[in-house]
Amino acid sequence: MNRVAIVPCLLCVSLLICLIFSAIPVFAGHGGDRPVKKGILLVGFGTSVPGADAALKNIEKLAKEAFPDTPIRWAYSSKKIRHKLAKQGTKIDSPAEALAKMADEDFTHVAVQPLYSIPGEEYHNLLQTVHRFSNMPKGIKRVIAGYPLMATTEDMLDVRDSILKILPKERKKDEAVVLMGHGTEHPGNIYYPGMQYFMSRKDPNVFVGTVEGTPSIDDVIADLQAKDIKRAYLIPFMAVAGDHAHNDMAGDEDDSWKNIMKKNSIEAVPVLVGMGSRDNVASIWVDHLKTAFAHFDGVQ
Ligand code: CO
Repeated sequence: MNRVAIVPCLLCVSLLICLIFSAIPVFAGHGGDRPVKKGILLVGFGTSVPGADAALKNIEKLAKEAFPDTPIRWAYSSKKIRHKLAKQGTKIDSPAEALAKMADEDFTHVAVQPLYSIPGEEYHNLLQTVHRFSNMPKGIKRVIAGYPLMATTEDMLDVRDSILKILPKERKKDEAVVLMGHGTEHPGNIYYPGMQYFMSRKDPNVFVGTVEGTPSIDDVIADLQAKDIKRAYLIPFMAVAGDHAHNDMAGDEDDSWKNIMKKNSIEAVPVLVGMGSRDNVASIWVDHLKTAFAHFDGVQ
């Protein structure tokens, strides 16, 4: 009785072993164990101002120096700017298009580094895209996003100290510097008054204003008048000196910051250089990329 039972049992076991061993290569052949391929995706809001993308390219240069063996791709998150550039013959991917292409090229681990200033609407939109692309069937195994320029308190201090080092040399102590941030209705706007606080503790004549949030240019003018400041350098507090810098800040329209200051008897000196062109500020974005990419350490 026992002997008869053992024979089919052995058959079962050998069948099972056969199944297991034949199954492994079958599953592997369908993408189970793909070789690790790490990549980087840089995401800017984008700019259509000719030459302004030099600031973004400078950040890319620093990223390439930090990651010489890792492919680096680009995306712009502004649909309006992508469409405008496409009409001029320059096709730039959206973050989702770029990630889909990277998935198709068998990237397994991708660090996405936004070149935004604050964790605002653009950043949170990007996080949603990043989460959707993680672990997609036949897609990228892991997609991770780095912080924008300012996220932690340490970032605020780093950004402040870096900006203080790049202020115009010819500026006199009683002259102001006004940083023009983008600003937003998103809760992330708080980083701008936050930077004003940190700046005021080191250089009380450096002011932070925003185009679309708080503090406004009126807030800045009130501060300048309270200190009887007659001359102010205007510096874009954004990765690129793009449309906002050229028009809202330094443009010839009545409501440009330059002309609002003029009306208030303050001489404005615009400096049309984006933060991405300043190596010591740009390297903070690259540091955030390094931190994100370090999540893939040990993945071979
Ligand atoms: Co804007």
